[in-house]
Amino acid sequence: MTNVMDPLSAEMLADPYPVYRRLRGEDPVSRHEQLDGWVVMRYADCARVLRDPGVFVSDFRKIGDRVTPELLSVQTLDAPEQTLLRRAILPALKSVDLEKWVADTQSAAGKLMAGIEGREFDFVTEFAEPLAVESMCELFGLPFIDDVTRFRTAQRDLVLSMDAGLDRERIEPGIRAREYLSTLIEPWTTTHPDAGLLSGIDIDSVGEYRAEYVNSLRAIFVAGYSSSSTMFGNALQPLLEHGLLSGDEPPALDSLAFNELVRLNGAVQATSRAVLEDVELGGRQLRRGDVVVVFLAAANRDPEIFEAPDEMRLDRSPNPHLGFGRGVHSCLGTHLALRLATEVIGAFVDRYRIHAVRPPVQRPTATMRGLDELFVRVERR
Ligand code: HEM
Repeated sequence: MTNVMDPLSAEMLADPYPVYRRLRGEDPVSRHEQLDGWVVMRYADCARVLRDPGVFVSDFRKIGDRVTPELLSVQTLDAPEQTLLRRAILPALKSVDLEKWVADTQSAAGKLMAGIEGREFDFVTEFAEPLAVESMCELFGLPFIDDVTRFRTAQRDLVLSMDAGLDRERIEPGIRAREYLSTLIEPWTTTHPDAGLLSGIDIDSVGEYRAEYVNSLRAIFVAGYSSSSTMFGNALQPLLEHGLLSGDEPPALDSLAFNELVRLNGAVQATSRAVLEDVELGGRQLRRGDVVVVFLAAANRDPEIFEAPDEMRLDRSPNPHLGFGRGVHSCLGTHLALRLATEVIGAFVDRYRIHAVRPPVQRPTATMRGLDELFVRVERR
């Protein structure tokens, strides 16, 4: 058994898509020694895994893995518990006054913009990340985090630890980061602010699954921050590379355009499931107890589904990409991410001509692909 690819190699960090293309064509469901599982590359196979949660499960305890109780949440459980949790979270999410949330996030963005005009700055650490922290606090109805630097460092360690299967040294910092984020976030879940998501939760509605509900709220905060802050950089990068942000007419960053950027340069490149019963996938025989790693980002460039898949077409429609997942575990924050991108990042792009001042620095992560640094200079249009 050999490793069919090394997602943390310099080559793949710089550009994983040629490797995905090769595997999609030559070996679309292949064994990966280090990940000790199957890597799945074609759209049809990836969608099938996500759409069949009875066979491809999220609760790895079912194949004998040890999962610590703090990790049990809407993300890591299956029906019926996952359904119960998701149904309990949805009304809380719906109760959020989205217009106020967008307006408050706009105002936070305005303050950040005031501090960056007239100098080179890092879009990732000086705009996207602080903005994502503030927007998540606003969403939950919480005061701002005191030690934002520590919060962001912990989030980064957590994102790095998503690749612990490829680099064991990331396990410990990931555990410490999770512990810190739990102690930070847990007290908030029992407070009832006047507005925001936490004001709308009804913890009694989930009966015996209170702890899992609290874990799910933490997961929303963590996923919301890391996916959206990462995706803002990932959205800007190809637009800059195509020279679309420095001219007189900026592209409209509408929902079609943002979805295309998620398809082309998605933050969540892959997600895993455990195989509960023997099943055939893409011509391979999978056994109960196997692990599958579904490469959403490879599926999103499958020429069977997308015309000219490596091209950025900002008006691509239809665009059935898997960048927000699919099926019962699909992203709970898609509508929120879309509003932030179209209204807040859209306003940023409308307001300024944006020039890259040096090549971006890729974060050394594979599962959640993104940038550590994207230095730009802006001038008002
Ligand atoms: C552009 C930004 C975002 C991207 C690309 C993204 C992507 C994804 C993907 C691919 C999944 C499915 C993972 C899987 O199937 O295993 C997912 C799930 C999830 N996302 Fe997002 N997401 C984004 C923003 C957000 C935001 C803003 C929130 C919350 C405020 C959020 C909360 C969640 C939660 C809670 C889940 C787990 C749902 C479940 O397992 O039932 N995400 N996201």
